Amino acid sequence: MNPRPKIVITHPLTPRVLREELDAKARVVLATRRATILRELRDAEGLVSLLTVRVDEELLRAAPRLRAVGNVAVGLDNIDLQACARRGIRVVNTPRVLTRATAELALALLLAAARRLPEGERLARSGKWKGWDPDQLHGLDLRGRHAVIAGPGQIGTEFGRILRALGLTVEFISRAESEPRVRAKLRRAQVLSLHMPLQPESRHWLSASRLACLPGDAIVVNTARGPVIDEAALIRALRSRRIFAAGLDVYEREPRIPRALRALQNVVLLPHLGSSTRETREAMARAAASGVVAVLAGRSPWNLVKTPVRERRH
Ligand code: GLV
Repeated sequence: MNPRPKIVITHPLTPRVLREELDAKARVVLATRRATILRELRDAEGLVSLLTVRVDEELLRAAPRLRAVGNVAVGLDNIDLQACARRGIRVVNTPRVLTRATAELALALLLAAARRLPEGERLARSGKWKGWDPDQLHGLDLRGRHAVIAGPGQIGTEFGRILRALGLTVEFISRAESEPRVRAKLRRAQVLSLHMPLQPESRHWLSASRLACLPGDAIVVNTARGPVIDEAALIRALRSRRIFAAGLDVYEREPRIPRALRALQNVVLLPHLGSSTRETREAMARAAASGVVAVLAGRSPWNLVKTPVRERRH
């Protein structure tokens, strides 16, 4: 192997990660614009990139020497895994290190939606608050409610643990469940939190007809990917008060958030902050960078993404 392979990074990461994981082991080039990334990839063996960078056929064609991609994210929907596998390019991502931070953000969204924090905050800031009022901004108690978690991976499981500790009952919907079972669970979901990866089969997982199964006091939380919800159907359900509220960190066409969604009071909106703590973002950068270095050194890092199943058949 080249003793100091070239690695393109699409974000400066952190000085500590650069120093400890990359500087001595690679020739690091920062490129943030797509055209520059493609140009720099012509002779690069590694890429450490963000979820806003599409690692697709176009990018891979521009990168004939590429052997390792590190996604500074756990979600892999921005990466064409099949195309990487066909070229023998290994992919690493950032599982585990962001589990707790993302589950905590789901909790923050749930609390904010249940207790109407944004409405209260807006009132407090407006200068129009008239004083304590027994009828003001009633929310919902969480203890004793029933939560359904769709996607029992690491983050969903951790969020389930947190909710149980808060006195909610919790059940999970896994990928293999039949439609009647999914709908039965949705009918009792006073809290529905989504944690599945975005894949062709999970697009619009929460469809209009599944939304119609939810009870009237339901709160929907999404910290996964926007397209797992039919956003237009969710807007209709919130606008007509068919459900109580939603807490969203992700959207169908980021960074675009529909005006109709922004106009609603019963939704909490965050700009994709799931893993955004100092500690977690540094751990993610480290996991992606060290994984790429390990692959280039011929090792198999702990966060190597499994080759997509379709590629293994032959
Ligand atoms: C963030 O959305 C991630 O996938 O890590």
